[in-house]
Amino acid sequence: MYRSHTCGSLRLTDAGQRVLLSGWVQVSRDLGGLTFVDLRDRYGITQLVFNMDTRPELCARARKLGREYVIRVEGVVRERTSKNPNRPTGDIEIDVDLLDVLNASKVPPFTIEADTDGGDDLRMKYRYLDLRREPVKRNLLFRGKLTLETRHYLDGQGFVEIETPFLIKSTPEGARDFVVPSRLNPGEFYALPQSPQTFKQILMVAGMDRYFQIVKCFRDEDLRADRQPEFTQIDCEMAFVSREDILRTFEGLTRHLFLKLLGIGLPEFPRMSYDEAMQRYGSDKPDLRFEMTIGDIGHLARGQGFPVFDQAGLVAGICAKGIADRYSNKDLNELTDWVRRPQIGAGGLVYVRFNEDGTIKSSVGKYFTDEQLRQWGTVFEAGPGDLLLVLSGEEEKTRKQLGELRLEMGRRLGLIQPGIFRPLWVLDFPLLEWDEESGRFFAMHHPFTSPKPEDVGLMDSTDREVLRRLRADAYDLVINGTEIGGGSIRIHDRALQSRNFSLLGFSTEEAEAQFGFLLGAFEYGAPPHGGIAFGLDRLCAVMNGQNNIRDFIAFPKNNTGRDMMIDAPSPIADAQWEELGLAPLPPRN
Ligand code: AMO
Repeated sequence: MYRSHTCGSLRLTDAGQRVLLSGWVQVSRDLGGLTFVDLRDRYGITQLVFNMDTRPELCARARKLGREYVIRVEGVVRERTSKNPNRPTGDIEIDVDLLDVLNASKVPPFTIEADTDGGDDLRMKYRYLDLRREPVKRNLLFRGKLTLETRHYLDGQGFVEIETPFLIKSTPEGARDFVVPSRLNPGEFYALPQSPQTFKQILMVAGMDRYFQIVKCFRDEDLRADRQPEFTQIDCEMAFVSREDILRTFEGLTRHLFLKLLGIGLPEFPRMSYDEAMQRYGSDKPDLRFEMTIGDIGHLARGQGFPVFDQAGLVAGICAKGIADRYSNKDLNELTDWVRRPQIGAGGLVYVRFNEDGTIKSSVGKYFTDEQLRQWGTVFEAGPGDLLLVLSGEEEKTRKQLGELRLEMGRRLGLIQPGIFRPLWVLDFPLLEWDEESGRFFAMHHPFTSPKPEDVGLMDSTDREVLRRLRADAYDLVINGTEIGGGSIRIHDRALQSRNFSLLGFSTEEAEAQFGFLLGAFEYGAPPHGGIAFGLDRLCAVMNGQNNIRDFIAFPKNNTGRDMMIDAPSPIADAQWEELGLAPLPPRN
């Protein structure tokens, strides 16, 4: 028998009991007469005491225990003289009379503590040691519980979990595919799914009515803190529903998860159109934890002889409240450098300082009178002490730059309070996105997304500007500035789907070759349907106030897409190349 209790379970009420514990040596402290060992397992840490006076031999063995040794001890629970209020087991210790070393350990390459000295790559290489650390372990346990609660909730709503294949067909839309060569069909490839999109729609045609799957998706994209090449979706689809049904169901799921996992009751989620999000926040995933919305001052700032503004498609700004006097010129120069970085790409930054004493100072003071600058201020209801930051340029780019500036100022000024959650639905995304480079439209969500019924008529236009204005019946769930989920009402009519493919530049033959199976299914009674997918890794990170999803994935890839622990990707044997019919073998010497 290895244990009667776990290392997290014993309390003062257990004093006097004889117990058996097994776990890892977190740390050992030799205080001469007494040796203390902290014993750790998944459930917590319990202090062990070895007494030199009463059991010298045992104590001598305890002194030799190294960090991360696996041991089994027997002893009696007793009250501690100096208690540790920061630990649930901090009132007790085990007076040990029997010690077994179950396994030795090499000295770990980094400390197994909340604040470790291990760099990222080292921690990834020894991920099994990293996972012993409390914060990482806690994240995985959180994820496990979130997955379970998701299943409970969706089961309660009549959803059925159905698996879809991982070896599927490559499509040129969306991100890049990971491809897998087929041995039995030389020269042909499967692709790993970027999402189960077409399968879940076909399940609706098949009459499954409400589908979900907690499923791995694969996208060969550049990595960022909130992106991994393989990640997990809570993927769902429903038949005979309107957008309202879907929003209600998944707002319900989100609320359920916040309540069960964090004990937080979220109020009803606000809704915002894509257009409004872009105008007010310069982003399709606005962070509503603070205000500082974008205001347009083009009508006041153009035509006054300042050439930069006169030529700009957009002149707009944000107003930082109450900092005019303490935000120094040095701060402003530094902020100007920040907006000029290539990642932001602004040409420069104009400021207007509404000083506490009523005076005004601006970097464009020689082009505009105080009265004119005061007029700009009215757009933001700016008062004494406020600082206006203005950018100008091509409309779309400038809005995005202002969105980034807003977030940066929110961070710099400490406007983002931890522990606050501001979810919202962003609705009515554009259906199509023009790509200058390839000179064609791409689907902003995916090619199966339905236009809003009132916009269907616009699909017959050949005018690019009209087509750009087409709105989709698509929605995103955004929490604290992160896109958690996205979905849409789908096209279920074959003719409309064909029309959409043609807007995306597919010939009839290409559409047939890529998606013939789906178009074919639509000819056998496809019900109206729609769905959504949440990024599970992102949801976990956001609920824990973190932005790196890697910390919520047991075995993640590093930022060059490598698994450092198993060292993948890696070359394959010559025989495998040959067997897969991939390429002629390199000549041998
Ligand atoms: P979408 O592409 O918006 O929609 O993806 C849904 C959600 O998945 C998460 N996500 C990611 N998480 C981590 N790493 C990535 N590389 C990554 N890419 C996406 C995001 C995103 O909101 N089939 C549609 C859904 C539908 O229409 O039902 C889809 O995949 O949180």
